[in-house]
Amino acid sequence: MQGITNYSGFVSIAQLTDLHLFADIERSLVGIKTEFSFQEVLSQVKRTLPQIDLMLLTGDLTQDCSVDSYERLAKSLNDFRIHSYCLAGNHDDLPLMKVYLPSNYVHLSRSLDVGKWRILLLNSAVEGAVHGYLSGAELSYLENNLNAYPDRPTLIAFHHPAVTLGSQWIDHICLENQDEFWEICDRHPQIEVVLNGHAHQEFDQIYETPHNSVRCLVAPSTCVQFQPKNHKFQIDSQSAGFRHLRLYPNGTMETEVHRLKVGSFQPDLAAVGY
Ligand SMILES: [Fe+2]
Repeated sequence: MQGITNYSGFVSIAQLTDLHLFADIERSLVGIKTEFSFQEVLSQVKRTLPQIDLMLLTGDLTQDCSVDSYERLAKSLNDFRIHSYCLAGNHDDLPLMKVYLPSNYVHLSRSLDVGKWRILLLNSAVEGAVHGYLSGAELSYLENNLNAYPDRPTLIAFHHPAVTLGSQWIDHICLENQDEFWEICDRHPQIEVVLNGHAHQEFDQIYETPHNSVRCLVAPSTCVQFQPKNHKFQIDSQSAGFRHLRLYPNGTMETEVHRLKVGSFQPDLAAVGY
């Protein structure tokens, strides 16, 4: 288990998600060269958040499951010299991630302590499927951790959103067993935040269970965006970005999304038939 201690003020975290990198840096997704947009987002993190403590990368790190894409990502993150914690999305290959990502600054830890907070990273990816599912083993791991640390405000991160986003096509490919997840959350009031990727859009909503109230967050992709609240798949022209979170010792949190300047890395809508 990776542990980071000795925080006195708030913990400053950047969430980067859905990088969709290729082996070939010139390849693009919907007209956006994913390596270049990712590097620009990384530069913006450095410019706007000089005091950042760590980064969470919430899946779909690669588009083509290539060794080269993971090796290049590992080098970028290691050179960045901020501890990065990575988890798998539906496009990822977890065994490859375990071989090629870990280094001094890149981790696949399942949990970490930062100041008063505990962060749990779960695997919601299902081999060969686009939708997500938290296996019995993942849910047991979650509940055992929550039982062991009842007094630590907790952030849970995994790839597939655990709530409906109001967009039918995305809601069909989110976390399948949301009810099981929320039943656990209902028993553990220390859960403050659930952090996801997958939806390629900004999302921020409180989810109420009978005994708990949890902030559910999704960040934009570092490359292509999907149009929010549209029941059909539609590419959005908003710029790539990341989410900044500030976790305070009393269990409160502040967050906002930062994007590249308007017009950066525009998608090629003709490439998807618009
Ligand atoms: Fe994605």
